[in-house]
Amino acid sequence: MSLDNLPVKIIGISGSPRKGSTQYCVQEALKTAGEIAKVSTEFIDLRGKTINFCIHCNRCVKNGVQYCPAFDDDMNDFYPIMMEGDGFIVGSPVYQMTVSGQLQAFFNRLRPIAPLIQKGHWASRVGGAIAVGGTRHGGQETTLETILNFFFCTGMVAVSGGIYAYNGGAIWSQDKKEEGAKEDLVGMETVRVVARRVVFTAKMMKYGAEYLSTFYDPARFTGTEITESFAERRKRLQEDSR
Ligand SMILES: Cc1cc2nc3c(=O)[nH]c(=O)nc-3n(C[C@H](O)[C@H](O)[C@H](O)COP(=O)(O)O)c2cc1C
Repeated sequence: MSLDNLPVKIIGISGSPRKGSTQYCVQEALKTAGEIAKVSTEFIDLRGKTINFCIHCNRCVKNGVQYCPAFDDDMNDFYPIMMEGDGFIVGSPVYQMTVSGQLQAFFNRLRPIAPLIQKGHWASRVGGAIAVGGTRHGGQETTLETILNFFFCTGMVAVSGGIYAYNGGAIWSQDKKEEGAKEDLVGMETVRVVARRVVFTAKMMKYGAEYLSTFYDPARFTGTEITESFAERRKRLQEDSR
């Protein structure tokens, strides 16, 4: 059996409020990912979306619901999509050397799925980061760090952009939106490297675990107890492999 024939879904997220360089870079990453066999992609564009700040009412966690009881805004459309991803490519414009407020609000509002994350839902999922700054050295690295921290907080495995893009895709847009990103040939190559690494690592994480001699229970890697759903999954895998 070849990993090439096994399907994975990659979700791209653009944290920019406008049609500009970040949107272009994330879409370019998804295009690169989609050129690999059996990869499906979905694009989440935060542009034009209403995403309120998390107010930490904890009603989602207390009631065990995977939607936000506090706000009926665009965020509720994203929970099911986020649950489906095997790999994530998250891009942000650099704002004051970190991610945009829109992206930070999006990260914070993922709290309704926190209980599932604690049980290891994303322990075998993969993340790659992209940062687009108007200045050549305007804080791309610190922005990437924030996105990588999001992956670490959720238990995901984060990939680097390789030897020329240590912590992800870093692009200098010169404040010229899509045109500026296109002119940064080196930066755009780091975007494509991140995309390929997310896909191949996602395939290995998703299917490789099934070939370990010891059952890989994602919950064990998040410090939480083995749950009913993972026990059921284990049973299914064992039945499938007979
Ligand atoms: C509020 C704000 C803060 C910014 N801060 C920085 C910064 O710290 N470093 C930088 O390189 N560019 C900064 N920029 C420029 C944007 O990062 C740059 O234009 C980026 O390409 C915008 O992405 P977009 O075209 O996808 O919207 C800032 C822009 C805004 C609106």
